[in-house]
Formats: sequence, C-alpha cells, structure tokens
Amino acid sequence: MNDEPTQLAFPAPGERLAPHHANAETLALLSRRRSTVALAMNEPGPSAEQVDQLIAIASRVPDHGKLAPWRFIVFQGEARTRFGQTLGQVFKAKNPDASDEQVAFEAGRFERAPLVIAVISSVTENHKIPEWEQVLSSGAACQNLLIAASAMGFGAQWLTEWYAFDADVNAELGLGPSERIAGYLYVGSAEDEPVERVRPAARVDHW
Ligand SMILES: Cc1cc2nc3c(=O)[nH]c(=O)nc-3n(C[C@H](O)[C@H](O)[C@H](O)COP(=O)(O)O)c2cc1C
Repeated sequence: MNDEPTQLAFPAPGERLAPHHANAETLALLSRRRSTVALAMNEPGPSAEQVDQLIAIASRVPDHGKLAPWRFIVFQGEARTRFGQTLGQVFKAKNPDASDEQVAFEAGRFERAPLVIAVISSVTENHKIPEWEQVLSSGAACQNLLIAASAMGFGAQWLTEWYAFDADVNAELGLGPSERIAGYLYVGSAEDEPVERVRPAARVDHW
C-alpha cells in the first residue's frame, strides 16, 4: 500500500533547521526495513511528485566538498520497455547462444517494477576530495532513496545485476568515463510481506 503524496518542506539555503528529528517511526523503519524483491512489485508506483521527492531526498546526503557526485536516470512506463530492448540486445550480443526466453527475460527486467531509478556515481577526478568519499556519498544517496520509498509506503530494492557493470549498457545510458552505476533502485507497491533474514552479528571492537 502506498500513501497519498506527503507535503514535504524542503528547506531553503540558510534556513534554520532542527538539530535532530526525534521520531520513533523513523527508528521503527530503520530497525525493521527489508527490501522488497523487484519481482514482487506492482503498480501503482510513485507519482511524478513522489519521484521528485525521492530524488530530492536522495540528494540530501553528506557530501564532502559539495560536489554532488551523483545523478539520476528515471525509468517509468514505456521507457522501461525501450531500455529493456537495449538490455536484451546487449545481452544477446554477448551471449549469442542465449535462448529467446533468456533474451526476453533480460529485456523484461525493468518491467518488474513501475519505477526504476539508476543512481549514477559521478566522480570529479583529480580533486582534493578523494574518489572513495565521492563514491560513498552516492551509496548514501541510494540508501536515502530506499528509506524514503519505504516511508512513502512503497517496497524498494537496490540492485546492480550484470547491467550495472557492462560498458555497452553504460554507453547506452550516456555515462562518462568517471561515472559508474551505484545502483538501480526498483520501487513499487509491495505484493508480499517480506520475511526477516538472518543478519550476521555486527563486528564491533571497542578501542
Ligand atoms: C550495491 C548493492 C548491490 C546489490 N545488488 C544486488 C543484486 O544485483 N541482486 C540481489 O539479489 N541483491 C542485490 N543487493 C542486495 C539487496 O538490495 C538487499 O539488500 C538484500 O536482498 C538484503 O535485503 P535487505 O535489504 O532487506 O537486508 C545489492 C545490494 C547493494 C548494497
């Protein structure tokens, strides 16, 4: 189930903000959140307004040097089918023995969910801010997006799969030489209730 769009008050630069947001629901979300597998996502997906909000929230992450080392590509509706054709073609070129079913499976990947947002790590090279920090910041953008999608009432999953690491797919998406896919964020109405998985104990030392 997804909620109606919430009015969010994004602050203007210089605006005074609360130093914290004590909120039990946020803690419940963070302590109980689970990914929804993309296959278990249905319509409806986020509205245009909610997509804008997801991207605005994804962009409000720690960012050393204020480089905004990320960008987003949104796939909805027919664009998912169109990009799927590209995925199918790239897959077939690299796997000439693949069956029609396998190619169709690849072509259908983005249609598993009503919304896919590619989060691109977009690094400023030879900058005093290390590349590592810029990449971490794009990962934080992915996680913010996952959490915001959940708070809006959607299931979400952070996937890479083979097409996050394929030079031809990257070229089709127009990625530059210092850009990589941080993740494909699948978002939709969750069909199933996820079951908690085993989580390894946190490895912690006290210095
Ligand atoms: C960068 C990144 C890439 C991922 N790529 C995949 C993937 O390609 N396929 C997959 O099944 N899970 C992938 N996952 C894991 C899922 O997003 C998810 O975290 C996992 O299923 C555990 O579920 P949870 O988020 O509910 O703990 C990826 C996670 C991260 C952080």
